[in-house]
Amino acid sequence: VHSTVAVLGCGLIGASWAGLFLASGRHVRAWDPSPAARAAFAPKAASVAAEVERLSLVGRSGARGRLSVDAQVSEAVGESSFIQENAPEDAELKRSLFAEVEAATSATTVIASSTSSLVWSDLFKDLRHPGRCITAHPFNPPHLVPLVELYGPDAAVVDDASALYREVSRVPVRLRKEAVGHIANRLASAMWREAVHLVAEGIADVEDVDRAAVNGPGLRWAVVGPHMAYHLGGGPGGIVHYLKHLGPSQERRWATLGRPSLTAGVCEQLRAGVEREAAGRSIAELEALRDRGLVALLRARREVGI
Ligand SMILES: NC(=O)c1ccc[n+]([C@@H]2O[C@H](COP(=O)([O-])OP(=O)(O)OC[C@H]3O[C@@H](n4cnc5c(N)ncnc54)[C@H](O)[C@@H]3O)[C@@H](O)[C@H]2O)c1
Repeated sequence: VHSTVAVLGCGLIGASWAGLFLASGRHVRAWDPSPAARAAFAPKAASVAAEVERLSLVGRSGARGRLSVDAQVSEAVGESSFIQENAPEDAELKRSLFAEVEAATSATTVIASSTSSLVWSDLFKDLRHPGRCITAHPFNPPHLVPLVELYGPDAAVVDDASALYREVSRVPVRLRKEAVGHIANRLASAMWREAVHLVAEGIADVEDVDRAAVNGPGLRWAVVGPHMAYHLGGGPGGIVHYLKHLGPSQERRWATLGRPSLTAGVCEQLRAGVEREAAGRSIAELEALRDRGLVALLRARREVGI
């Protein structure tokens, strides 16, 4: 589905989406108001596409798609049946972009926003044809992490978007109601809030909190989600036994979870801790290690059928 996709906003997330679509054989029409971003985009998108191909992350029958970087938003969207928007996280800016897009597209062109923290009604409710609009939130880096979280009021549009994302080997999940942070960032924020609390209260150092996450629950969560993990935690009785046996202890623990504030002192503890944990490694080195790890994990999961 959708042989030509428009990518609006040629930053980090735009490049990842474009690379995925190109690697799947789709044509991409890209636009960004910044001439510098437009000029830098083709090599960035091509390098993501090459990585996706090298790792066989996406199947395709013919050749890699063609990329054109357009000077006008109307050119990019006019030829596309699906639009992936990746402009800065600013509701007013996105709304005025969507008004411009609406003027240049038919009422059936799907408009999908990568927004992390805004919700559907912040972005689309004042458009003339809001039903074809969805939020479609990827997880960074979107060409390696398969998740994309979808919300839209029209189930048929969400189905259509899901089909496209599946064709580029993403794993779409659906929200039944819009929510700030969608699903995954709410989970990530809940986890990080407690991670900050543990440091702020002096219960553990930054390095040990991260080590605990990566070597315990994080490892398990790459294979089974939090609900399924407790189904298995209940032994032969599954979640029903778990809830009866250990549900009350979960509730007692929930009552003690922290609500930290990011005061100057806490920020300094986090900075110093992360610096110790990084042990002199640059951001680029840490990113490369993260991405090698993600690719190896994706392979391992594929081997066991996840
Ligand atoms: N970075 C992440 O981890 C991440 C993860 C998931 C989703 N997102 C979401 O993706 C979107 C883009 O984030 P990013 O990290 O790629 O930002 P970025 O700063 O890397 O890129 C934003 C791009 O948008 C361009 N731009 C500026 N004004 C614009 C306009 N009016 N219309 C179109 N483009 C415009 C900028 O020139 C820039 O190239 C945001 O909504 C963000 O919430 C980001």
